[in-house]
Amino acid sequence: MKTHGSYPNIRLRRNRKSSWCRRLVSENNLSPNDLIWPIFIREGKNIKEPIDSLPGVYRYSLDKIETLIEKAIRKKIPMVALFPNTPKNKKNSKGSEALNKNNLICKALRLIKKNYNEIGLMCDVALDPYTDHGHDGILNKNGYVDNDKTVEILVKQSLLQAEMGCDVIAPSDMMDGRVGEIRKALDKNNFSLVQILSYAVKYASNFYGPFRDAVGSKISLKGDKKSYQMDFRNSKEALREISLDINEGADFVMVKPGMPYLDIIKLVKDNFKIPVFAYQVSGEYSLIKNGIKNNIINEDAIYESLIAFKRAGASGIVTYFADYIADKLK
Ligand code: PBG
Repeated sequence: MKTHGSYPNIRLRRNRKSSWCRRLVSENNLSPNDLIWPIFIREGKNIKEPIDSLPGVYRYSLDKIETLIEKAIRKKIPMVALFPNTPKNKKNSKGSEALNKNNLICKALRLIKKNYNEIGLMCDVALDPYTDHGHDGILNKNGYVDNDKTVEILVKQSLLQAEMGCDVIAPSDMMDGRVGEIRKALDKNNFSLVQILSYAVKYASNFYGPFRDAVGSKISLKGDKKSYQMDFRNSKEALREISLDINEGADFVMVKPGMPYLDIIKLVKDNFKIPVFAYQVSGEYSLIKNGIKNNIINEDAIYESLIAFKRAGASGIVTYFADYIADKLK
């Protein structure tokens, strides 16, 4: 980059001298339109249950869901992501509750779609909330997650969710080939307008702990997910993942986790012309939240953390701060 002159005729602080000018020259902005709000649902009635490792986030019983959706619409949040906390007695090794048309997610989708059309509904496709071993797919006899058998189930899970009114199918399982198979099945069944948000670059991360508490998959999880989620030492491999998923028909792609992976967001953004979403995951949220609670950092760190995603090139951000920051942005 060529520089034009130097101090003292150049003073970069001149444009920072007042708020009006900083606003005028800001390169990135955050609006409620950028937010995706994750919501955890559970069985029961009239329940708003705190999650210890995710302070300020709750599991809600289904009767509370409409109020939350109205809140999201009022705050101009374009989409919510629904995650179920499946009771232990409904989990098994095949995660068959994922295909029950009366499971929590299906009930929530029907309930919301009956009355609200002005908000997008996104649902994960993966088996971890439903398996008793906590993995995203089914295991073969060696304990390895079987790719192709899992994809067959994920296709069924996707069709069921589309049938119930899901707008955006979000495979978060990292099986090979699932986006293409899901796209094919959706098209064959008249769901050609149902979108796919692929968790294309999802790392085997240590930042997912509180989420696993929230959906109840942590207590049961045997081993780690390194044989299907990406190795966090790699970035070129991320481009291969993205390119495959785009070819298979993904409408948008996700990079996950968020803040430790801003380089990956930028890399994807610079190499492809597809909308890229970032997931500020549960561990990141809890670190910031606890930092604020303990007076280590101040609350404006939240806005700063979200702007970082925009600067890196993200179109949208899945964040547990969505509810809070949407108000702040008004
Ligand atoms: C499930 C899934 C996970 C997250 C979103 N979907 C956890 C995992 O893969 O173990 C993590 C989200 C978060 O930590 O906020 N496949």
